[in-house]
Amino acid sequence: MSFPLFTPFTLGSVTSRNRLVVSPMCQYAAVDGMPNDWHLAHLGRFAQGGFGIIMLEATAVVPEGRITHGDLGLWSDDHIPAFTRLSHFIKQQGVVPAIQLGHAGRKASSARPWHGNGSLQVDGPADHGQPWLTMAPSAIPMAEGWHTPKEMTSLDMETLKAQWVSATQRALQSGFEFLEVHAAHGYLLHSFLSPLSNLRQDAYGGDLDGRMKFPLEVVEAVRAVWPDDKPLAVRISAVDGLDGGISIEDSTRFAQELKSRGVDIVDCSSGGIAGGASAARVARKPGFQVPFAQAIRAGAGIKTMAVGLIMDPVMANDVVAQGQADLVALGREALVNPNWPLHAYRSLTGDTSFDQWPVQAGWWLDRREWSLNPTAAAAG
Ligand SMILES: Cc1cc2nc3c(=O)[nH]c(=O)nc-3n(C[C@H](O)[C@H](O)[C@H](O)COP(=O)(O)O)c2cc1C
Repeated sequence: MSFPLFTPFTLGSVTSRNRLVVSPMCQYAAVDGMPNDWHLAHLGRFAQGGFGIIMLEATAVVPEGRITHGDLGLWSDDHIPAFTRLSHFIKQQGVVPAIQLGHAGRKASSARPWHGNGSLQVDGPADHGQPWLTMAPSAIPMAEGWHTPKEMTSLDMETLKAQWVSATQRALQSGFEFLEVHAAHGYLLHSFLSPLSNLRQDAYGGDLDGRMKFPLEVVEAVRAVWPDDKPLAVRISAVDGLDGGISIEDSTRFAQELKSRGVDIVDCSSGGIAGGASAARVARKPGFQVPFAQAIRAGAGIKTMAVGLIMDPVMANDVVAQGQADLVALGREALVNPNWPLHAYRSLTGDTSFDQWPVQAGWWLDRREWSLNPTAAAAG
């Protein structure tokens, strides 16, 4: 039997030891965008747990692009040493350090999830923090009660592109080897793509070509400074899951345009464009977004990453074996079990050793196994 989930994957000069990615997960634990010990421990346990690629959470390219006051950011050179500490540890464990850069658009200036999401209020609880001005392609709030964003001018767009470029350069200087542009979940770039949030009358709105224009310009600007031999991904919401929203055909077109601009892989998520921060629009069941990754991989001829309620090692292996996606990302399941890849390897392959584990654990676990089962130890 073959286990393609555990085969190496190379893009350019970067090789992941297997196909398992830690999906970006905001911790809302930063102060002024700065990573701290929490982030090192959070990411470190996945690095010790056998993943091939670890993607840092949405990292804002400007302070106003944060979802909450607790988001990471790379808007100044002062951030570089703290990010380097994270990439360094990840790399030391044989894992590819990846980072997602984003701008939250009209979903910026929000409360942390456990404070109820939604827009921050001037008269809200002190520990939620003060709101700031948000911006988006059109001055349409996310949902009732949310901030009305400022409609971006062409100067805003030019400025933001340059800021995106600077953050990309800082990500490189911080030792990251894999970069993802966040164009999903209703944040700024997705809100340009979706006809539900982009009602612009200029060249950056209208039909799909117009709505793709700014996201593609950002991707081009990023690709121009991100080294050719280092992988560039874009995360999309493959469908909005709402009437009149983005369809899988739209996303396949977008993926073709991304490919022609040197994007290596499309990370296929869905939803998030309207109706609250955690509105679930696409019916959820294990592997529910895998068909999006499969359709885009086949339709655009580009590599894809599948994500969303993938919990079972057999399902994860099948996704790769059946050519539905090239990489498999885990979010909450990684929180449940940071050692998921190590357990999945043993359960899929039947290998009873702990050879794949960090030696600091594996050495002891092998001996525990032998003391529980001396006959196997003697035979082995
Ligand atoms: C705590 C948490 C934070 C998240 N933060 C991000 C993020 O920063 N960027 C992003 O694209 N997705 C984010 N997501 C979505 C995940 O990356 C993933 O796509 C989603 O949880 C579905 O995968 P799962 O079912 O394996 O958790 C977050 C999810 C969780 C649970």
